[in-house]
Amino acid sequence: MAALVLSCGALAPTGALAQATEGTIGPVAPAVAAPAGVPARGVAPAAAPVAPAAAAQPANLTNGETLYRQACVACHGDAGAGGAGGGASLKAGQSADTILSVMTSGRNAMPAFADTFTAAQRRDIAAYVTEVLQKR
Ligand code: HEC
Repeated sequence: MAALVLSCGALAPTGALAQATEGTIGPVAPAVAAPAGVPARGVAPAAAPVAPAAAAQPANLTNGETLYRQACVACHGDAGAGGAGGGASLKAGQSADTILSVMTSGRNAMPAFADTFTAAQRRDIAAYVTEVLQKR
């Protein structure tokens, strides 16, 4: 009897230890797999859905027109024909990529707008130029 009680008593702590060990390893493993500062695999899935969703958003032409009128019209004119302030005509079929790149980095007398507008805003302006002004 004494041996039976003792072995039962010995089993209980063993089971508890096994549970505790399992519980300890669980949360530690992911932390080891994703060291701070490293773009670890564990981090990417959480961030990934945000960027593609934003990039996949269609350009907002209304927003593009508003921003164009604020920032571009002084030199490129209402219709994008240029002339005002020495701005080039934007109706020569420039691609959205060209417009984005000139807008981002500037060129000669054309100021850079990288710090003025977000990438999404520049995309909206470029879309307004290619989709609306160039088609008029
Ligand atoms: C201060 C006047 C000024 C403003 C404001 C301005 N631009 Fe310009 N832009 C110019 C000038 C000048 C050029 C010609 C640059 C060169 O090639 O020497 C130019 C060139 C460009 C070109 C290149 C055209 C080509 O044929 O390659 C694009 C595209 C353009 N601007 C877009 C924009 C957009 C979009 C905005 C508003 C966010 C804007 N610009 C605001 C003066 C301006």
